[in-house]
Amino acid sequence: THVVTESCIRCRYTDCVDVCPVDCFRAGPNFLVIDPDECIDCAVCVAECPANAIFAEEDVPSDQIKFIKINAELTRNWPSITKTVAPLPDADDWKDVKDKLQYLER
Ligand code: F3S
Repeated sequence: THVVTESCIRCRYTDCVDVCPVDCFRAGPNFLVIDPDECIDCAVCVAECPANAIFAEEDVPSDQIKFIKINAELTRNWPSITKTVAPLPDADDWKDVKDKLQYLER
């Protein structure tokens, strides 16, 4: 599977969503996740993300490993998103900010 990591939080650009051939994205208030049971590892979304938030599971940086579990958990609670929408209002200000897990709204 592929995994959405911290840099998506408070940005949620959603460019990734439009290109997904299996509609495996699930959207929360200020983050989105990939449903690990639906993702076919096509990797098309990776290059679309302005925040470089998406990684193949085996390539997730060591400080982002917790997001593998976070994607698997939150996908059960959040609705499907299949079309790109406007980014969050301050997305560009948050794009390069680190340690954003504290801001994740579930
Ligand atoms: Fe998030 Fe990047 Fe998609 S910021 S919504 S993973 S395009």
